[in-house]
Amino acid sequence: MDTIVIGGGNKLHGKVRISGAKNAAVAILPAALMSTGKISLSNLPDINDVRTLIAILENLGVAIRRRGRNAVELNPSRLRGYSPPYELVKKMRASYYLMGSLLARFGRAEVPIPGGCDLGPRPIDQHLKGFAALGVDIEIEHGLIKLAVAKMRGAHIYLDVVSVGATINLMLAAAAAEGRTVLENAAKEPEIVDVANFLNAMGASIKGAGTDVIRIDGVSQFGSAEHMVIPDRIEAGTYMMAAAATGGEIVVEDVIPKHLEAVTAKLREMGVTVDVEPERIWVKRTDHLLPSDIKTFPYPGFPTDLQPLSMALLTAAEGTSIITENVFDGRFRHVDELKRMGAQIKVEGRTAVVEGGQPLSAAPVAATDLRAGAALVVAGLMARGETVLSEAEHIDRGYEQFEEKLRGLGASIKRVRSRGGIMVRKPL
Ligand code: UD1
Repeated sequence: MDTIVIGGGNKLHGKVRISGAKNAAVAILPAALMSTGKISLSNLPDINDVRTLIAILENLGVAIRRRGRNAVELNPSRLRGYSPPYELVKKMRASYYLMGSLLARFGRAEVPIPGGCDLGPRPIDQHLKGFAALGVDIEIEHGLIKLAVAKMRGAHIYLDVVSVGATINLMLAAAAAEGRTVLENAAKEPEIVDVANFLNAMGASIKGAGTDVIRIDGVSQFGSAEHMVIPDRIEAGTYMMAAAATGGEIVVEDVIPKHLEAVTAKLREMGVTVDVEPERIWVKRTDHLLPSDIKTFPYPGFPTDLQPLSMALLTAAEGTSIITENVFDGRFRHVDELKRMGAQIKVEGRTAVVEGGQPLSAAPVAATDLRAGAALVVAGLMARGETVLSEAEHIDRGYEQFEEKLRGLGASIKRVRSRGGIMVRKPL
């Protein structure tokens, strides 16, 4: 496993360009296989989840041509398989989108139960309930979800929980169902709108994405499309918090500031200066950080993916902050790691109380998942001394050139690759 070594104490300064949104890209790639035409995608983030999905698509028979780091052309016309391999699927949760897209293409899918970040129990009952409403037969056998249908029929589906994954998966399947599907209590994340725009570009008829009622009129064929993935609001939020945490001044470029309103509002409450321009956001902290109360909610609420980062940041605020995690049970695995660095945090159920103001001190810590890993890097940037973060591969699932971008902002950070289990390391 790789290790990241972070030297604390540098204030971040400069500009950072934000990559394409992971959570849009990991749905758009599976959606592409619904087409019998040619698909051209740009602003794809160069991250491991995208590489894994491209490998899965290739394995299923999609012809793929890379166009530089962030663009790809796909020709799914000769798609042959509906059973993606376990070894690749288990690497990421978003492989569940192959269920919806393969159903749309073939009326069949056999997909291993997906892996991904361990954020506590993450059921997919709402995905399956929706497929069943569209007429799909579902069997779960030996860790494999087997889906089959002669012809999907549109239905009225009410989601019991607001779920990004279920909303997108049902949009994919319903796009090819006969007649109209109405999805109620749908999630409203910008990535859902991006996927709907891509599906519509391929010939789908989807209205209302971005609101809690989505209407989908099924079509029988999907053609060629070009699409540019929206910017990653979670990546942008990560750098904004890192700047605030180190008392620096940065500009995040190529973002859609509207997607970051919850984050901007919270940073301002903490005493951070945030100036918004059409496609960039300036973040500057000169003064003490003020404590805050943060509650995570589905979009447009404060994103759960930035909760671990906000916790790292609030260890630097003078006073007591309260963080309530409303989206996932058990998304507090970073707390023990932050405590190793001297953070004073108490967790009671869904709530964490952060007593901030004591400087963190460097320690060996482990990335328990993608965003926890990023949060620990931010903690390392604030801490006195050299923090050694193990299991750094989690970060590569979702951040393009994380260390390079941070180094570009003046951070002291480097990757140490383990060779045959031995760490090869030079001083920073
Ligand atoms: C997606 C994002 C993830 C983000 C999360 C919430 C992707 C690839 N991942 O994950 O980064 O943290 O949204 O914004 O886009 N639930 C059920 N049954 C279901 C589905 C979900 O009970 O069938 C519950 C989950 O356990 C969770 C809540 O609903 O408590 C929200 O989950 P969901 O929005 O589905 O998250 P993901 O799509 O897995």
